[in-house]
Amino acid sequence: MASKPKTFKKLMVQKLTTNFREAVSIENVEMCHPGKGEVCVKNKYVGVNATDVNMTKGRYFVSGKVPFGIGIEGVGEIVEVGENVENLKVGANVAYMDSRCSAYSEYVCLPATDVFPISEALPDYLVLLVSGLTAAIGLDKGARITAGDTVLITAAAGGTGHVAVQWAKSTGCHVIGTCSSEEKEKMLKGLGCDRVINYKKEDLGEVLAKEYPKGVNAIWETIGGKVFEDCLKNLATKGRLLIVGGISGYKTESKEAFTKLDLATLPEQLLFKSAAVQGFILSHYAECIGPYLKYLSESLETGKLKVVYDNGEKTIGTEFFGIDGIFKGVEHLHSGKNIGKVIVRMS
Ligand SMILES: NC(=O)c1ccc[n+]([C@@H]2O[C@H](COP(=O)([O-])OP(=O)(O)OC[C@H]3O[C@@H](n4cnc5c(N)ncnc54)[C@H](OP(=O)(O)O)[C@@H]3O)[C@@H](O)[C@H]2O)c1
Repeated sequence: MASKPKTFKKLMVQKLTTNFREAVSIENVEMCHPGKGEVCVKNKYVGVNATDVNMTKGRYFVSGKVPFGIGIEGVGEIVEVGENVENLKVGANVAYMDSRCSAYSEYVCLPATDVFPISEALPDYLVLLVSGLTAAIGLDKGARITAGDTVLITAAAGGTGHVAVQWAKSTGCHVIGTCSSEEKEKMLKGLGCDRVINYKKEDLGEVLAKEYPKGVNAIWETIGGKVFEDCLKNLATKGRLLIVGGISGYKTESKEAFTKLDLATLPEQLLFKSAAVQGFILSHYAECIGPYLKYLSESLETGKLKVVYDNGEKTIGTEFFGIDGIFKGVEHLHSGKNIGKVIVRMS
């Protein structure tokens, strides 16, 4: 066993609200030790996700009974191994998705099955986890993209979006991406996005209707509200609209995360286009995670996939670091200013 301190810091949700700073407290707790089939990881980096504020509100993936832990993913080093764990050793570098959602912590004990060995504990691997896997599996299995499709990616310059853009491009699709700033436009063009729509300068619905009169074959919808409506209107015949999220509603304090819509004509709209609207949650595709993560890691290591992460340095001038950095990282993501995946360095 590597030397571990007696106590460590972790975040606990104490109040159900989408205001992360109000919801969460920093707790100093006794060091955890892995049980049977578990490992203890010292976090080097943790990944920030849009849905963190849905969790602090108790909306999904959590019990909703305070206090509870928070945080989905990290990269770090194994510092202790529990009984019955054969394939993982102390000192190994790993990436993980925490099925118990307690990753916002200096140390975390979690099932060995949540953990994937990696060659080096680099932040790049964080981009492949929730974000990269959602992008790749979602586009393949949910939106069923094929070469020649026109594909629209919303929040294209974000953690999930920038991988989705590259996945669709490498499948041979024409890719449209939405974003909100000139810097993001530049990043997306650099990744090969064919048509970038900065929705602060152009109207999404108007651009789609004018430039894509036959409609869009597959739509990666993560915003909700008016964006969902514009997307639905501009689906092609046999088009697929994949609901991956609805961030425009996440920061409200209502019970539901999604902005309410009038969908009275939805059946008709879908019928006359033989079109589909489908949801996507990564954890429902657990059987795909292993093979897709292996492929994404190889793509990263061979330079086929470019990962972009935002640790605060370039966008706000200071690095998100330690437990305090998590608050700043979550707020940064919800300011809409992040470029790529928001990450926090923990050690
Ligand atoms: N279903 C799943 O399994 C799954 C898994 C991972 C992520 N997701 C979803 O994918 C989406 C992206 O998540 P992420 O963690 O990768 O975040 P992200 O894209 O890195 O950051 C969020 C981005 O959303 C855009 N945005 C648009 N409207 C916004 C608003 N009203 N408030 C704040 N931001 C807004 C902003 O970029 P621009 O405005 O510049 O576009 C912002 O940078 C979310 O909807 C999330 O819930 C779903």
